Amino acid sequence: WVAPTLSLALGYLLGSIPFGVILTRLGGAGDLRTIGSGNIGATNVLRTGRKGLAAATLLLDMAKGLVAVLLVAHLFPGNALLAAAGAFIGHCYPVWLRFRGGKGVATLMGIVVALHWPLGLVYAVVWLGLLGTLRISSVAGIAAAFSAPLAAALFGRMDLVLLLLALALIVGWKHRENVQRLLAGTEPRIGGTSRPRG
Ligand code: G3P
Repeated sequence: WVAPTLSLALGYLLGSIPFGVILTRLGGAGDLRTIGSGNIGATNVLRTGRKGLAAATLLLDMAKGLVAVLLVAHLFPGNALLAAAGAFIGHCYPVWLRFRGGKGVATLMGIVVALHWPLGLVYAVVWLGLLGTLRISSVAGIAAAFSAPLAAALFGRMDLVLLLLALALIVGWKHRENVQRLLAGTEPRIGGTSRPRG
C-alpha cells in the first residue's frame, strides 16, 4: 500500500499548487479570488489584463498534471492513474485554499497528455477549436473534458475510461455556476469586457 499512497499524495501535492493565485500575487495583480469569477484558473487571470501571467498559469497548471503522472509512472510503475486522480483533486480541492480550488480543465489536459498522448491531441483540438470559435472558456473546457473518456473508449483504452469520466463529471460540477450563467445568457466571452455575474 506504500506505493499507491505515495502516488496519490505526490499527485495531490503537485496538483494543489495554485499557480494562478501565486503568479497573480507575485505579479502585483492582487488576490485572484476577489477578481472576476473568483476562480484560480488561467481564464480568470486573463481578466486581470495580464496576458503573460494568464499564459504562464495555463502552462504551469497543465505541467503539474503532466509531471505528476510521468513522475509517478517512473517512480512507482503501475500507479499513474492514482497520481492522475491525486493531481486533479489537488487542483480542484487544494488544502492550502481551504479546498476551494480550480475547475480542472488545464490540469486535466496535462494529465491526459501524460496518460496517452493521442487523447491529449483530441482534448486540445476540442478545447482550442471551441475556444477559437465560441470564445467561451467554460463551454470549451467542459466539452474537452468529456471528449477524453469518449476518445479513450474509441481508441480502445478502456482502462482509462472510468477515471476520465469521473474527472469530466467533476469538471462539469465545478462549472455549475458557469452553466447557470450560460443558461441566463450572462457568461462572458474571452477577451470581452463583461464580467461574470450571478
Ligand atoms: O477552466 C475554467 C474556465 O472554464 C472557466 O473559468 O473564470 O470563467 O469561471 P471562469
